[in-house]
Amino acid sequence: MSIAENRIVPEHVAIIMDGNGRWANARGLPRTLGHRSGVETVRETVKAAGEAGVQYLTLFAFSSENWRRPPDEINELFGLLKAFIRRDLAELHKANVKVRIIGERENLRVDILTLLLEAEETTRENTGLTLVIAFNYGSRDEIARAAARLATEVAAGRLKPSEINADLMNQYLDTAGIPDPDLIIRTSGEERLSNFLLWQAAYAELMFVPDFWPDFSPELFKELLDRFAKRDRRYGALSTKAVAVGQ
Ligand code: IPE
Ligand code: IPE
Ligand code: MG
Repeated sequence: MSIAENRIVPEHVAIIMDGNGRWANARGLPRTLGHRSGVETVRETVKAAGEAGVQYLTLFAFSSENWRRPPDEINELFGLLKAFIRRDLAELHKANVKVRIIGERENLRVDILTLLLEAEETTRENTGLTLVIAFNYGSRDEIARAAARLATEVAAGRLKPSEINADLMNQYLDTAGIPDPDLIIRTSGEERLSNFLLWQAAYAELMFVPDFWPDFSPELFKELLDRFAKRDRRYGALSTKAVAVGQ
């Protein structure tokens, strides 16, 4: 965490961008228009996060379980990611944003994978906000892949089982090098993690807001950052916030 403008700003905010479909339904529009509108919210949120002094912003864009949706909707979501990177990469780069992608890459379409790698490569040296896009991401899948790689190291004699601990696990996850999220926000009123950053969320503050993702605004974001600043994070220890004498 850092102190910016005398406020405690979370170093890493992760967002489950949910409710695009219901936003569209409520307006009698097809779900696809909800997703399109959601991309605009992504642009605003990236900007707002940078301005607020957040250093890492993770956005859940497509989960490993979203393959259960109809092919048309999956195509739309893939197309939107492609369009977003094509249209916004130059601007993100100019704004010194560093792009990181987390999620399974093996079974991704080549055109998508190429673009994702290009986004990471182009912005590799940037030093501003790190924008982590969770695409084809599922926490259990991520942990299982990390376990498989650790097992390979052990089988090859390069690692002893007794050397495996939480710190080493961190280095084998997709999020290696990225600090744990301080704040996880979910829009649309659902109060669950849906397989998002389960390991990394160990001590995250959770906030659930009723607004559908296309209605999420920089103002609401700032409000949630203010709420975060008032939370007492104890990590299993005792409070470090001042308490009245005798309490
Ligand atoms: C979030 O909106 C976007 C993705 C999951 C890709 P949804 O598409 O889940 O919208 P709802 O939850 O059906 O309203
Ligand atoms: C979580 O939303 C995934 C993303 C936001 C990408 P879902 O809409 O897929 O989650 P469930 O199915 O309601 O749990
Ligand atoms: Mg949803």
